[in-house]
Amino acid sequence: MTTMRTHSSLIDLDEDAPTSAQVDFLPGPVLLLGAPGVGKGTQAQLLMDAFGIPQISTGDLLRHHVREGTDLGRSAKLLMDQGQLVPDDLVNGMVADRLAAADVAQGYILDGFPRTEAQASWLDGALPGLQHSLPLIAVRIQVPHEALRRRITGRRSCPLCRRIYNLYTHPPQTSGICDVDQTPLTHRSDDTVEAFTERMAEYETKTAPVIEHYRLQGRFREIDGAGSLPEVEGRIITSLRDLRSAGSADVSKEARSWPS
Ligand code: AP5
Ligand code: MG
Repeated sequence: MTTMRTHSSLIDLDEDAPTSAQVDFLPGPVLLLGAPGVGKGTQAQLLMDAFGIPQISTGDLLRHHVREGTDLGRSAKLLMDQGQLVPDDLVNGMVADRLAAADVAQGYILDGFPRTEAQASWLDGALPGLQHSLPLIAVRIQVPHEALRRRITGRRSCPLCRRIYNLYTHPPQTSGICDVDQTPLTHRSDDTVEAFTERMAEYETKTAPVIEHYRLQGRFREIDGAGSLPEVEGRIITSLRDLRSAGSADVSKEARSWPS
């Protein structure tokens, strides 16, 4: 086993886990779906390193608005602390602004969006007008419910570089301090048992139909989120590669059937 990458304190790489050098394709626009605490943010950061495309986390964007005290942040804070979803129009507007930025041209990883059927419909409608032409591919991460509570209550994060730690499974080298930039780690205000219970209820009622939305569209895989971070990352990258290869096959089949 070797240890490497900018997230070195978080990741002990297996020898056979994929590394940036082994990643020979670009996944384009990607959705990471799954319940609170399955590892969407952790894996999105690894994929960002592997592929050089940005992570767009609606939770992180909203927390930024809360810290900055914007109108959006003030509207969102109480809902977030209670584990409830922020209204669709506010979140859709925020995502529209983010997807207009130049850095998404090679693709992006959407983490925590869409979370309602209304958000998924909005995204379906908005995509043709956006700068990336490849269709979305979606990966759902699954972890047993009983493991999620421990992941959530043990989570700590760096407010500066956003690295994610866990007191039980991925602790920092020095207690309470980020390994990368030595900033004191914070505990999210919604990482309480009460807010987690509400987030799970919101997930089961409002986000489960979104999973079905993408399952029905095809271009969808489910992976097991248990195991080491590189093991889970490897499963995601294999799924992304399969989904993009299937997409290319579809495109070339369509191209062959076009009249010359
Ligand atoms: P958001 O920030 O998106 O929270 P969430 O969906 O509840 O997901 P989490 O961030 O809690 O979990 P994660 O899957 O990212 O797990 P992580 O990688 O951190 O949303 C927060 C709030 O914002 C919502 O409740 C809502 O109010 C609002 N909001 C956001 N988006 C919205 C939207 N689209 N519409 C409306 N409202 C919206 O990992 C968790 C822990 O597990 C970490 O400690 C990590 O170290 C550990 N871990 C990760 N992988 C492993 C592994 N393989 N083994 C062991 N531990 C692991
Ligand atoms: Mg997250």
